[in-house]
Amino acid sequence: MSSVEDKLAKSLTAESIELIPYLPYLLQDLWELGSSPKDILSMISKQIQVSDKTKVLDLACGKGAVSINLAKALGCNVKGIDIITEFIDFANKKAREFGVENLCEFNVGDINESVKVEKNYDIVIFGAVGNVLGDQEETILKLKSTVKDGGYIFIDDAYGKEDSNPQFLTREQWLMIFQNTGVKLLEEKLVDDDELVSINNEQMACIEKRVNELKKTHPEKESLFDSYLQSQQAECAELEDEISGVTMLLQVV
Ligand SMILES: C[S@@+](CC[C@H](N)C(=O)[O-])C[C@H]1O[C@@H](n2cnc3c(N)ncnc32)[C@H](O)[C@@H]1O
Repeated sequence: MSSVEDKLAKSLTAESIELIPYLPYLLQDLWELGSSPKDILSMISKQIQVSDKTKVLDLACGKGAVSINLAKALGCNVKGIDIITEFIDFANKKAREFGVENLCEFNVGDINESVKVEKNYDIVIFGAVGNVLGDQEETILKLKSTVKDGGYIFIDDAYGKEDSNPQFLTREQWLMIFQNTGVKLLEEKLVDDDELVSINNEQMACIEKRVNELKKTHPEKESLFDSYLQSQQAECAELEDEISGVTMLLQVV
């Protein structure tokens, strides 16, 4: 089984790679698939001097919600890469709709390959992508290799609690990794609990509707779609009760 496919499924909360072809349909009503463009924009505005020369790399950009909002608000140049062709097609369409197609380049690709060739960015964004690039330490080192000295890294992930799933590092463990990898935490934004519940409810309603449609058109795959809905619900519950979603802004030191 390909580990790229396995991790891709996991990055979108699918238990099985069999679901991958259905993900664009299931997620057709959502634009933001993980990170909050508003939070990233506000952290950039506070911490980073941006000009029309600023180059941003959005790895596993999904449908381009973060990239396009940054290009629109800041006039910076953004390259977004994602492995799902339909997401990239959607991102290109949205870039035109927002009038930022000259500032945005969206490509289909595996980010494990992109990190080997994409270099010298001012800012790299890794929003809600999980372990696609390896464990947390490997991920930071790979992200770091794409930015200039003194460049910035956004990671959207979660802080675990002492007794939560060990897959989620505690804040102290993240800080230790920052020290080991030569980056410093400039700012962190924890997800607001009320906002999270309302986003989760809204997104779950959209996904449930599409799951029900697919169950009608593909009755033989009913259990596949049901298990996707269950894993989405479990992830929402985990985020609401057991871990804290966080956007971290790091600087290479
Ligand atoms: C939860 S979504 C987050 C999307 C986006 N960063 C955002 O915050 O809206 C995870 C994304 O990772 C992408 N992905 C997973 N594995 C990948 C890989 N090896 N190369 C490129 N993209 C990948 C998926 O296609 C999906 O769009």
